[in-house]
Amino acid sequence: MRTFDKILVTGGAGFIGSHLVRNALVEFPNAEIINLDKLTYAGNLENLKDIESNPKYSFVKGDICDLEFVKQLFEDYHFDLVVHLAAESHVDRSIENPFAFLHTNILGTANLLHTVVKSDHDCLFYHVSTDEVYGSLGETGLFTESTSYDPRSPYSASKASSDHLVRAFYHTYGLPVLISNCSNNYGPYQFPEKLIPLVIHNFLNQKSVPVYGDGLNVRDWLYVEDHVKAIFAILKKGRIGETYNIGGNAERTNIDIVSRIGEIIDNIEGRTYNNYKEYVTFVKDRPGHDRRYAIDCTKISKELEWNPSVTMKKGLEQTIKWYLTNKNWLDNVTSGDYRSYYKKQYGDFK
Ligand code: NAD
Ligand code: TYD
Repeated sequence: MRTFDKILVTGGAGFIGSHLVRNALVEFPNAEIINLDKLTYAGNLENLKDIESNPKYSFVKGDICDLEFVKQLFEDYHFDLVVHLAAESHVDRSIENPFAFLHTNILGTANLLHTVVKSDHDCLFYHVSTDEVYGSLGETGLFTESTSYDPRSPYSASKASSDHLVRAFYHTYGLPVLISNCSNNYGPYQFPEKLIPLVIHNFLNQKSVPVYGDGLNVRDWLYVEDHVKAIFAILKKGRIGETYNIGGNAERTNIDIVSRIGEIIDNIEGRTYNNYKEYVTFVKDRPGHDRRYAIDCTKISKELEWNPSVTMKKGLEQTIKWYLTNKNWLDNVTSGDYRSYYKKQYGDFK
């Protein structure tokens, strides 16, 4: 079983990254965890409020696209593990502005890989990626690790490029790497531009809930803490150079998800039966909208004995409960107040 002393997490102030950082302090209690994040609109240090004074944790504000900065960071800390999550992550934004995605997801990843290869310390590079690199499924079939890449959005194309770069550095320079491609995550601290938190936020505030196209696109949902557990299983015992698919065995159409959240919120808020339906609005479809994603997790299940543990029912209930008890977090995000949290905690950044 592998263990580490100095861990760099990129994108640790984001949704999945913040769960990963919090859990890394428990999984590797002797390690120092450095969270490097640019704090884009998606980065929120309030996500890590509960652990910010932990002596094993530090935050560094910076951009993975800045090669000189990245090199200096590796000289200052001699990392033996990089868990790379920093990315532009939202498909709709990638349709509006692909360049930020190409920049961070491709060039930023290349900067990290190059720096690790040039560093005189042994360092494992773990790349967190998405199942969207495999493209879109029809009614049947599942993505396996050998499914051909067929990305269809600027987001998935940029993530596919980064996966290829990671494999190229493994083959060309012998860099030890691990890659995982995971399905759609949901849970606490997810930015309310993604389907599940957006729907929760809008129903709670009795605002219109936009459903793209016919609402029958399918995603395979995974509770974020299960994703993080899978990453730790791969980090500790995964075979170097390998790719592992991670999924929730929980395929749902978008309209199913919207309806389920609507029913739960109507119930919690004491609204009349089916009140939520008033807010469901079918809107123009997303261009190039992938129809269905579904993951075959046989490899990680057999090799590393990882399986999703949180059912969709339980995960959704927990998530809705979290957003209800953390209305402050949601209000700060929607009002933009979360942007000043860094300044309050750390002062002006030079
Ligand atoms: P997120 O958008 O919530 O967080 C991304 C983080 O990266 C933010 O904190 C942001 O500030 C930071 N960041 C962005 N550009 C940066 C840069 N140039 N330099 C440094 N930091 C930068 O994303 P997420 O949903 O937590 O996803 C994390 C990773 O997991 C991504 O690589 C994503 O592709 C992958 N992934 C996400 C999902 C999902 O459902 N959310 C599923 C599979 C894989
Ligand atoms: P999203 O959370 O953006 O994740 P991804 O596109 O990476 O799968 O979207 C999940 C699904 O929900 C996807 O099929 C698009 C759909 N969707 C809507 O119908 N309405 C919305 O407002 C959003 C954000 C997504």
